[in-house]
Amino acid sequence: MNQPLSWLECISCGEKYFKDARIYNCAQCGDLLDVKHDLETLKETVTLELFDKRLGGYEPWERSGVWRYKELVGPSFRHDELVTRGEGNTMLYPSPNWLAQYTGHANLELKHEGENPTGSFKDRGMTTGITQAKHLGAHAVICASTGNTSASMASYARLTGLQGVVAFPAGKVALGKIAQAIAYGATCLEICGDFDEAQHIVLEASQKLPVYLLNSVNPYRLEGQKTIMFEMLQQRRWRIPEWVVVPGGNLGNSSSFGKALMELHTLGLISRLPRIAIVQAEGANPFFRSWENGFKDFETVQAETLATAIRIGNPTNFSKAKRTIEWTNGISVCVTDQDILDAKACIDAAGIGCEPASAASVAGVKQMVENGIIKPHDEVVAVLTGHLLKDPGVVIDYHANELDTIAPNFINEIHRIDADFDALAAWVSQPEVQ
Ligand code: F0G
Repeated sequence: MNQPLSWLECISCGEKYFKDARIYNCAQCGDLLDVKHDLETLKETVTLELFDKRLGGYEPWERSGVWRYKELVGPSFRHDELVTRGEGNTMLYPSPNWLAQYTGHANLELKHEGENPTGSFKDRGMTTGITQAKHLGAHAVICASTGNTSASMASYARLTGLQGVVAFPAGKVALGKIAQAIAYGATCLEICGDFDEAQHIVLEASQKLPVYLLNSVNPYRLEGQKTIMFEMLQQRRWRIPEWVVVPGGNLGNSSSFGKALMELHTLGLISRLPRIAIVQAEGANPFFRSWENGFKDFETVQAETLATAIRIGNPTNFSKAKRTIEWTNGISVCVTDQDILDAKACIDAAGIGCEPASAASVAGVKQMVENGIIKPHDEVVAVLTGHLLKDPGVVIDYHANELDTIAPNFINEIHRIDADFDALAAWVSQPEVQ
């Protein structure tokens, strides 16, 4: 029999499965699965010019910043079965001066994944996950979420006419994300427990009920997320940065980065891999702790952080993220909530904006510069994972100095004034007289 173009393969024991098998973990050893593609065959057709040519295309899939790289994402799908909202195509911003001052590093670019259709990087993995769900004939999809996955899944499920069932930790999801899940018509379940517990029960549901699981344990999700690396490198004209810095929660994104870079390298499309730094919040840092002790052991934590998107104590993709660190000679970094919210205030005030978890990457860059890990000449790309409006509550509370444990070091207070011209004029700055 000819080798298929894609199949599922256990990252640990190498057991192979049919690409459309409805499994999320290896039936032999329980470890995570990769969607593998026949890179030898793909080598004949995949070129950097092919991806460039599609930038000017008119077909919805060519205009998508995910499906533009279809050969490396889902080569077996027919074009007419792709469920796309034109995701990706996000800006790679040069670091504004203000942020260069804050991080101490001018050679920084920001890949803003908050510019996706539902406002987070999750759309890249959801277009592939939902396309596979539709391909399998699923009628309902489910996920546990700290908010962004549920917002994204709710949207893509509705686009295809599937029921979307989202389970999120009660009281720990930012306002914008809950609003999206409700608005997009998902079945919304508030779990009286944390994300890790929610994840546990949706996995059980996917085994016992006719519902397809779209958490990042599903390897089809990670295939879409790889395109953050593809697109970033294409935008840089395939010039490899020294560092890519990314926040880590359930570790799906960082896992996909390693796979993306390895595949490009195997295809001979890049000559070396950038180093990946995975940044975790101090109160939700099980990966960082394990990395610190040389991955000798791994312990879950009871997670707590104001960056609710990454409030995760038992990350599903631990073993794939470890592989990313090993493949890329990467590191892990741990930052406090104060670091995160200060970095966020600076990203926001630079006119770019992001949600708290995203700012962990820039807080990580600052720390790596201070520690001398990032050298002055290093080119660095930090990934911003979600849009500022995802979590308006934390913005208002920070600038009103209403967060108990946080000093608003970059405060921008609202000024209440009388309805009077002079009162207003006092606040308008005048150009400096030469
Ligand atoms: N940043 C944001 C804004 C997120 O929403 C998440 C994860 C991460 C970073 C971490 O990414 O899990 O791939 O390491 N949010 C998930 C959710 C868990 O349910 O929306 P990761």
